[in-house]
Amino acid sequence: MIKVAPSLLAADFARLGEAVEIVNRSEASLIHIDVMDGVFVPNITIGFPVISAIKTIARKPLDVHMMVTDPGRFVSQVRDCGAEIMNVHLEACTHLDRVVHTIKAAGMQAGVTLNPATPVMMLQDIISEVDMVLLMSVNPGFGGQKFIANTVAKVSSLKQLIISTGSRAVIEIDGGVDLNTAPALVGAGADVLVAGSYVFRSPDPIDAIDRLRHIKP
Ligand code: DX5
Ligand code: ZN
Repeated sequence: MIKVAPSLLAADFARLGEAVEIVNRSEASLIHIDVMDGVFVPNITIGFPVISAIKTIARKPLDVHMMVTDPGRFVSQVRDCGAEIMNVHLEACTHLDRVVHTIKAAGMQAGVTLNPATPVMMLQDIISEVDMVLLMSVNPGFGGQKFIANTVAKVSSLKQLIISTGSRAVIEIDGGVDLNTAPALVGAGADVLVAGSYVFRSPDPIDAIDRLRHIKP
């Protein structure tokens, strides 16, 4: 079954604790947290003190998506927040191999994220080292954007790369995921679906998570 990672970016930040409790009570596998620096992406969101506060009540592992320039600077701070997964953008790292190994040495799972225009083959020489690949299906920076359809073909290529190299990386998709866009992603080999607006703009987020989790290709 597919795993679901609700993105808190779409939650009501005045009631962030309630959103975390909803995820706790749901069938979600992870809590997805979007960190932005206003440089790598044109927005600023959640920072380390907020992640640490979320960690005090979260009963699901934290999947921290770093949309920041040179994210290798922040490995120990993300680890100290209690994150289980640290996702860094390939486009933001000059020395990606070093960053991936630093994340793993810090005791977290290492995720590498690709923007929509970055080809999957850029991962060829690092794929055997990473625990997760996060494919962006929108341009990062904002929730509620339209799903970029060519992501489905990228999932298929990535699945091939993972199989051919014997990598154990799981495939996560982020942006515009809902009940309409999810089936093709699952069919192509996605393992984890991030969903922000779909979950938190639903009248019943727990039911929305459940329905996404049981989606068929
Ligand atoms: C966008 C973030 C996403 C965002 C997804 O830059 O990385 O995690 O919350 O939001 P939706 O699901 O609304 O597209
Ligand atoms: Zn994200």
